[in-house]
Amino acid sequence: MNIHAYEKLWLIAALLLIVGFVATITYGAVGLGIAMVDDSEETLDPNALDEHERFGDLGVHQTGENQYDVNVRAYQFNYDPGTTAVHDPIVLPENSEVTFYVTSSDVIHSFSLVGTNVNSMVIPGEVSAMTVEFGDPDEYGILCNEYCGSGHHAMEGIVQVVPEEDFHLFSIESVDAHESVEPGDDLELTATVANDALAEETAAVDLEIGDETYENEVTVDAESTGTVTFTVDTGSLDTDDLEALDWTVTVESGSPATFDDGTESGSVDLEGQGEDETGTDDDGTATEDEEGDE
Ligand code: CUA
Repeated sequence: MNIHAYEKLWLIAALLLIVGFVATITYGAVGLGIAMVDDSEETLDPNALDEHERFGDLGVHQTGENQYDVNVRAYQFNYDPGTTAVHDPIVLPENSEVTFYVTSSDVIHSFSLVGTNVNSMVIPGEVSAMTVEFGDPDEYGILCNEYCGSGHHAMEGIVQVVPEEDFHLFSIESVDAHESVEPGDDLELTATVANDALAEETAAVDLEIGDETYENEVTVDAESTGTVTFTVDTGSLDTDDLEALDWTVTVESGSPATFDDGTESGSVDLEGQGEDETGTDDDGTATEDEEGDE
């Protein structure tokens, strides 16, 4: 059989095209390492995320010099962390490689980082893992692309990529303070600061009490805690007409880098103040002013 030279050429070209299509599809499905969220992996209980090893500890965790894991819970209609109206934004340092682990505690959502290739369904009981490399400081929006209910259109969050010097993983673990103090005496408050980063860092810690702010700092080893003590001369504070002094200890990270709370508050009773204003009973014990003011 005689086949015309042009016909042969076209037959070969068509065959090559078919082989090319199959090759690109195979490469896209297997070669890029993209895995679909499916039920072959170990599932988790969406109603018991608090007890889960990863999702019981939401937020940013350092895993290597420039590597971070971020554990996120999606739920109607927020990301925790991420949605700034109810939680902290997700804050990460520049030039970092970040893996987001996202799950849902109710219905199917998605986790899409606008401007990156991060875009996955988020299914209750399953974990969506996505790795992205961040360069210069920038801000990225998180969007939900799966219809998930009446608030779907407003389900969003923020990822802030900040300069390295502004990024810390400090949190206030606890504050020890006297329960009461005689006005004029010294008051001591000791704050325990945790550093979850993999390197030693110095934390700036502020104490606000009365109308004064005291500044202090503490250098904390990697993955460790350190304490910083404030000594406040209550005689220098305006304590007139006060029953108690409210205090707030804040670790200044320069940005809301930590998902863990960076502040702790409390109050210290001022001995001999307050009670007399509400009057005393015949037997001399103080009365509460539950019936309102005199
Ligand atoms: Cu969540 Cu749409």
